[in-house]
Amino acid sequence: MYQFDRRDYDHRMTWFREARFGMFIHWGLYALPGRGEWVRSEEEMPEEAYLPFFDAFSPDHYDPAKWAWAAKEAGMKYIILTAKHHDGFCLFDSALTDFKSTNTPLGRDIVRDFLDAGRAEGLKVGLYYSLLDWHHPDYPHYGDKNHPMRRDPAYSNEGRDFDRYLDYMHAQVRELCENYGKLDLMWFDFSYDDLRGEAWRGAELADMVRSLQPGIILNNRLEVSGEGYGSLAQGNPTPFHGDFVTPEQMVPPEGLKDALGRDLIWESCATMNGHWGYCDEDHAWKPAPTLLKALVECVSKGGNLLLNVGPDSHGDIPPQSLEVLRFLGRWMEKNGESIYGCGKADLPKPEYGRLTQKGNRLYYHLYDPPMGPLPLPGLREEQIAAVRRLSDGRELALSHSWVHSDYPDTVFVDLGGPVSAEETDTVLEITLR
Ligand code: GLC
Repeated sequence: MYQFDRRDYDHRMTWFREARFGMFIHWGLYALPGRGEWVRSEEEMPEEAYLPFFDAFSPDHYDPAKWAWAAKEAGMKYIILTAKHHDGFCLFDSALTDFKSTNTPLGRDIVRDFLDAGRAEGLKVGLYYSLLDWHHPDYPHYGDKNHPMRRDPAYSNEGRDFDRYLDYMHAQVRELCENYGKLDLMWFDFSYDDLRGEAWRGAELADMVRSLQPGIILNNRLEVSGEGYGSLAQGNPTPFHGDFVTPEQMVPPEGLKDALGRDLIWESCATMNGHWGYCDEDHAWKPAPTLLKALVECVSKGGNLLLNVGPDSHGDIPPQSLEVLRFLGRWMEKNGESIYGCGKADLPKPEYGRLTQKGNRLYYHLYDPPMGPLPLPGLREEQIAAVRRLSDGRELALSHSWVHSDYPDTVFVDLGGPVSAEETDTVLEITLR
């Protein structure tokens, strides 16, 4: 039986903390109606109305290598695909169901193609697996909080055997762990009401996953959802504890700490518009600079950002998302050192931006470039070995101008001329002695 061990834990979390930036991919039959991955639940759509999308699933631009390349180009270090979402449709060749991608006109084991593509780009690979299942006959229908048929008494739960569902769910997770090589991460989704922890036979499940995939990282949603931290945060990890906390569509205001005040490992997941799965009508795209700042904010508070794309019915990542990814990639190429392996600094957030740190290097992210020399509150001149602008490597000098002579206790950097206000984030690297 798995027992929490802090040293093993720190060891297995090393790559995840260094990576800082990953891609979430939500894809499945729901890409066809194009109204998001909750379409069945939101519209209380019976299965018969959904099955035509199964028969029509033949994305003509299907190519997971393109997804993996887009992630790599954006500077992401890991990618996570929905192997099964709440609709129960499996993107892998499960022996336990017919409701799977290999039985659609596409006829591909998408999970396998995806994992091959991700590994070929040198990315860490993970799978999202929904604990909920709106296709399985033994999953509660009537009266469940989320099920599409929750309000229709014709879908009463008589004869439904939840344990039989759990056998199915566990066996599918086993297939994923046994048949697809090394998985770096498993992202379960999600617990609600009484369905949490042992209600999923969580100890048995997590134990199986950890023994079949030594070193795998698990999220915390066998215990909680985007709400709640889980038992590791409370300081008494259960056997099914998550290795990291999963805030959703927001960045925690102060980062996250456990009950003993130690920094927690967390990952904010976020969409680029308002939906995870492809949604035709959702044009509320978050501006690329906002998403860049979200990434920097996460890192400055000790967390990761998992940024989502929802490929459409052709298998294409929407062009708006590709544009954002390229924007982020251009920035990461020059400034990635201020992200990878970085975390919180021991200094307060500067008024003009954010601060990240890796060892003896501080990274000042300038969002609002000042007029004149840049103050570095909290630092003393003798601590500073060098100052460099990351985007072009230019060395900058400390300023000794008379203009700030009235502030003898503050160190200033001479920015060598005005910093373009067009840049979202100009990064200065300060090497400490
Ligand atoms: C929510 C939603 C789900 C999405 C997930 C990603 O829990 O149920 O659709 O996959 O968030 O974090």
